[in-house]
Amino acid sequence: MQGRYVRESISEYSELALPNDANGRGNLLGGKIMHLVDLAGAIAAMKHCRNPVVTASVDHMDFISPVRIGQLVRLRASVNRAFNTSMEVGVKVWVEDLIRGEEKHVSSAFLTFVAVTKDGRSVPVPPVVPETDVEKRRFEQAGERREYRLQHRRRE
Ligand SMILES: CC(C)(COP(=O)(O)OP(=O)(O)OC[C@H]1O[C@@H](n2cnc3c(N)ncnc32)[C@H](O)[C@@H]1OP(=O)(O)O)[C@@H](O)C(=O)NCCC(=O)NCCS
Repeated sequence: MQGRYVRESISEYSELALPNDANGRGNLLGGKIMHLVDLAGAIAAMKHCRNPVVTASVDHMDFISPVRIGQLVRLRASVNRAFNTSMEVGVKVWVEDLIRGEEKHVSSAFLTFVAVTKDGRSVPVPPVVPETDVEKRRFEQAGERREYRLQHRRRE
């Protein structure tokens, strides 16, 4: 299967933080950010393989800065590496204060998506062709993270 460049899977997504999604302190719920991360990641994975995908796993997430209601949540996702039927996607999240014009890093995450058929069978995806030094580093590290993930995955 012909490889695809990382730049072909880049997905950018933004959403205004609204009161419906606030916790008692007036900040955006962490769960809402996780939802947006999953969406942005799935879009990148689908752009890479041009096939429906499911989320197989989400790695550890830290929330470094709070998002206040009225601020803009911005996400950027791209596929770091594809294996056989799965892809590691990196997602970075920022918050932008639209009035002050300031931006802060909120969180970063690695997710694994699997390309599936209508009946849920996994299907092969194209390999990733890393071009830049950063993409090459992420590609290498994705291999190490995959080993760790597969060793720790739970199976019923
Ligand atoms: C993800 C899923 C398709 C994997 O099915 P499976 O029967 O375990 O399939 P396989 O063992 O053949 O693995 C398929 C791929 O998934 C990867 N995978 C499976 N579980 C994984 C995990 N926990 N973390 C990372 N990768 C995982 C495997 O490494 C394999 O990748 P590869 O082909 O690139 O080597 C299946 O578990 C599923 O459908 N889960 C529910 C997904 C879902 O509904 N997500 C939404 C949240 S509820």
